Amino acid sequence: MTPLRITVNGREHVLPAPPETTLLALLREHLGLTGAKLGCDVGDCGACTVLVDGLAVNACLMLAAQADGRSVLTIEGLATPDALHPIQQAFERHAALQCGFCGPGVILSAKALLDANPAPTAAEIREALAGNLCRCTGYAKMITAVHAAAQALHGATDERSPRATPVPRLPLPGGGTGGPR
Ligand code: FES
Ligand code: FES
Repeated sequence: MTPLRITVNGREHVLPAPPETTLLALLREHLGLTGAKLGCDVGDCGACTVLVDGLAVNACLMLAAQADGRSVLTIEGLATPDALHPIQQAFERHAALQCGFCGPGVILSAKALLDANPAPTAAEIREALAGNLCRCTGYAKMITAVHAAAQALHGATDERSPRATPVPRLPLPGGGTGGPR
């Protein structure tokens, strides 16, 4: 079994993993990073969303081997020891989550959006979060929180922007990137 070399939250790991191991299983079972959740396991819910080289991906659909040599960010790597990330702060301030199960995936999708588009419109936020299902909220507070995070991170939001910047997501064989549906 050839070991995989994967950087997770800034730390490089060299891990042997059977070829069928998904990235989600590697994170949760081998590295103990349980922020990414196992929801549907078929690419529908987005609870397992992580960033791979900055792009949002459903970790339940990606083989760990596909992340070999790449850099993965999970929710555990977002905050500093001293402070929550501004997106997390905005979600907390605007009470944008209830049970929180969808939260890590939603917040990482929001990060991928704001990294690519510092001043998204509400429509662009909805599109970016379309692959993340939430059974508790009505999504409205999430959109408010992402606007607030954009303001905190980049100093501006523009509801009137006509831009429709696509949110980059990592394509996987067979689709199911957790992207907009
Ligand atoms: S667990 Fe639902 S998309 Fe991965
Ligand atoms: S806050 Fe409960 S599933 Fe989203």
